[in-house]
Amino acid sequence: MSRILVLQGPNLNLLGKREPEKYGTTTLADIHAVLAAKATTAGVEFEAFQSNAEAELVGKVQSLFDRPADFLILNPAAFTHTSVALRDAISAVRVPFIEVHLSNVFAREAFRHHSYFTDIALGMICGLGAKGYELAMDYALARI
Ligand code: DQA
Repeated sequence: MSRILVLQGPNLNLLGKREPEKYGTTTLADIHAVLAAKATTAGVEFEAFQSNAEAELVGKVQSLFDRPADFLILNPAAFTHTSVALRDAISAVRVPFIEVHLSNVFAREAFRHHSYFTDIALGMICGLGAKGYELAMDYALARI
């Protein structure tokens, strides 16, 4: 059975109550429920993992050596702009991925314009809110 892993970075556990004008009112649980339903319909295994800790996210990516996934949907959140460690882990496991951001990072502060992930991603979706995850999932399901 194919497997898709969704990885969510720091503060995304606060979705719904975190700056809703930037990130919307949909909770992370709501987003994952929609993605899980799509995966189930397609007969694909689905797992979602959120952490506020860089080491835990790196560990989860490294675990793909033992328990592979066919596709990754990744919102590294603030680690997008800082984490060489998470980038290196993803390069190491060689799982194809789409980078997702709820907000349009290019319409925000300059420090959000650089990502350590976009150049190694299949593609990047930003600014479409929770819908961005659904589009990434549709692509992943069509591709695997
Ligand atoms: C974010 C954008 C990042 O710049 C920010 O640090 C986040 C969320 C987004 O989904 O829009 O935490 O990744």
